[in-house]
Amino acid sequence: MITLGIETSCDETAVAVVQDGFTIRSNLIASQVHLHERFGGVVPEVAARAHVEALNPLMEEALEAAGVGFADLDGVAVTVGPGLVGALLTGMAAAKAISLAAGIPLIGVNHLEGHLWANFLTHGAPEPPYVALVVSGGHTMLVHMRDLHHHEVLGQTLDDAAGEAFDKVARLLGLGFPGGPALDAMSREGDPRAIAFPRSMERSGDFDFSMSGLKTAVLRYVKAERAAGRDINIPDVAASFQEAIVDVQVRKTLEAAEKTGVQTVLLGGGVVANTRLRERILAEGEAAGLRVLFPPMDLCTDNGAMIACVGAALLRRGDRTKLDIAADPNLLLAP
Ligand code: KG4
Ligand code: ZN
Repeated sequence: MITLGIETSCDETAVAVVQDGFTIRSNLIASQVHLHERFGGVVPEVAARAHVEALNPLMEEALEAAGVGFADLDGVAVTVGPGLVGALLTGMAAAKAISLAAGIPLIGVNHLEGHLWANFLTHGAPEPPYVALVVSGGHTMLVHMRDLHHHEVLGQTLDDAAGEAFDKVARLLGLGFPGGPALDAMSREGDPRAIAFPRSMERSGDFDFSMSGLKTAVLRYVKAERAAGRDINIPDVAASFQEAIVDVQVRKTLEAAEKTGVQTVLLGGGVVANTRLRERILAEGEAAGLRVLFPPMDLCTDNGAMIACVGAALLRRGDRTKLDIAADPNLLLAP
């Protein structure tokens, strides 16, 4: 079974061809970072227009790299939410057109489910249940998955997503856009114990998160140091901020695994590319006797393969999406 996956929910145009649900035949990304850089963030209208320009050539390239044509496809999977509505619509229009023209099923996919299923590419899915930590530019949540398609949200951020916090603090420190990877790199030169930033809601007794107190603490620290005429040690600030976020995420994920009694923990979303989060969740999860899964670096951030992977599973169980489906910028994980 060959599935085409299309992902245009934010600022990456991504197309992939996946065989039998888990084997990547091609997985291409046209990044728009250079277009949004000078604005310091993703501009929705710019993103949608860039997707329209990039999609057709990228699709041709992805099919060619996989050595297949439209006639070989068994289905076309596309992200229908959550994400920027104008950006989502570009990928959905393309997928609907392919479905109609090639006479193959359309499968609408939840972007967050895609991030979790990125763990299964190549090796397939281990036996559920799992606890899953979703940490991206738009989401931070802990989910209990009793099976592959049902999600009980245990807790989530009450304000910013983790990726958003990384991006905002990186901007404050003058590290550019996108901030997450730059802050991660800078942190490797710094001391994570240099500044005691708050561990927001670390012991709140639930599985919710908050980034606002930490963000304000970093801002206050930087302002106070500047006002006192002291040089700011950027690597130390970056490493200390990163450690504060990672501390809470690791602790709450392990607590959620203990409370639900699962043996397997999955991580998904762009922030899972963070080296410190990967290192600590792996070490501390394994020390607690858990199996910890996270995708390889290039499958953590937005890509088409994760969408094709979910799409193939839905296709296999007989799901079909109607051609009049609308984009849903606030789509939730199915309970
Ligand atoms: O999942 P993703 O590609 O897009 C969304 O669905 O939002 O996640 C993007 C987010 C951005 O906020 C980016 O700064 C963050 O993931 N990110 C990182 C790293 N790489 C990407 N955050 C921390 N450390 C990284 N290495
Ligand atoms: Zn994403």
